[in-house]
Amino acid sequence: MNDWPFRTIIEPFRIKAVEAIPILSRAERLAALERAGHNLFKLPAEAVTVDLLTDSGTGAMSARQWAALMIGDESYAGSRSFVRFEETVRRLSGMAHIFPVHQGRAAERIVARTVLGPGREVLNNTHFDTTRANVEQSGAVATDIPVAHAGDPANRSAFKGDMDLAALDKALAERRDKIAIVMLTLTNNAVGGQPVSMANIEAVSRRCRAVGIPFWIDAARFAENAWFIHAREPGWENVALPDIARRMFDLADGFTLSAKKDGIAHIGGILGTRDPAWAEKFKNELILGEGFPTYGGLAGRDLECVAVGLEEALDPEYLRYRARSVAYLCDKLDNIGIPVVQPPGGHAVFIDAARFLPHVPVDAFPGQAVACALYEEGGVRSVEIGSFMFPGSKLQLVRLALPRRVYTQAHVDYVAEVAARVRDRAASLRGYRIVESPPFLRHFSATLAPL
Ligand code: F0G
Repeated sequence: MNDWPFRTIIEPFRIKAVEAIPILSRAERLAALERAGHNLFKLPAEAVTVDLLTDSGTGAMSARQWAALMIGDESYAGSRSFVRFEETVRRLSGMAHIFPVHQGRAAERIVARTVLGPGREVLNNTHFDTTRANVEQSGAVATDIPVAHAGDPANRSAFKGDMDLAALDKALAERRDKIAIVMLTLTNNAVGGQPVSMANIEAVSRRCRAVGIPFWIDAARFAENAWFIHAREPGWENVALPDIARRMFDLADGFTLSAKKDGIAHIGGILGTRDPAWAEKFKNELILGEGFPTYGGLAGRDLECVAVGLEEALDPEYLRYRARSVAYLCDKLDNIGIPVVQPPGGHAVFIDAARFLPHVPVDAFPGQAVACALYEEGGVRSVEIGSFMFPGSKLQLVRLALPRRVYTQAHVDYVAEVAARVRDRAASLRGYRIVESPPFLRHFSATLAPL
């Protein structure tokens, strides 16, 4: 890795194709928000200036990826693109059995339908919501055991994504026969994109191997997790990023991966395992729901893009810039007095809306009030992750997720300026009430009204 003596971390790429972004007047934004029922999921893209709704499938592909797309081989069986994809994923993960799927949750669904079921349990540092939904849909129980300080936005520990080892020991001692899989989500999205230390991955792996329970990783943000191990964990500062990533996978028996994150692809996912018996079950389920094993749920061209993206995601200059961009936005908001989850995670900045708007009660959705105000002030789309998305949620957060390689430092400065205007109005911001709501996953389609 190169020394970088400058204070400014530049985007380590130049821009070859551009896409115009909509710039709206305040009146246009207010009208759009009204039409969307104050639910940012229902805004048309034409009404969004800076879209920080998610880092999933929203990255900018490189010239190498677009070129790879053109050489995609669309053979139904035995596609050349599958061979290239499989080689890359085997090199990355060391796992023998690799299946392409259309996105991360398809891999979760295959696992849930084949090796979970009633009476079984999955332990996770924190299940992502689609993972939890798939586990529960099978009849199994999804248990989260994050470290205690993961729930404290002000705690600045380096690896708040870790699993609570004492809770793991207790669960293994009490109900070893029930536990089907122990899983680590890297990075831990639900607690702020916080990384898991290599020490924790090793400790969890060791315990699982001692009792013969499969240890899996949700590797959606494996590259960002590897970067934090390199940057924050003593002993790993001189190890190459692909070697750190390989060590993480070597400790596991299988993985699910949404290629829409660190695969820097617009669509795609991967299911991998070392276990030939499980691989056989996965293959049969894959054929039922996704497709023939040499394309899964994807086109040959997608396999090419994912293969290139997985390698580019481990480029140290890219990861340095990536982590720096998130930290830059986090520090800017912190400096202007907006409470944020610390330390900055890998893919997003989380505003602590409960502290930002202490006068808005939890049942009036302070996070939604902040998210709507960010949109009103500057067309910035974020997402509430609090009591509107998850009724009963302890934390009231607003996530500003940074798509990969898409926005420049000027965009980030603009977002901070918009946030400063929201801060100036904070005391006068009011909460929301739900006008109309579907029976489940209400955050996608509910209509709200300001109080
Ligand atoms: N696992 C994690 C940790 C995730 O963050 C996601 C998706 C998935 C699995 C599911 O993958 O979307 O490809 O089916 N997270 C997105 C987000 C949606 O906005 O955080 P998928």
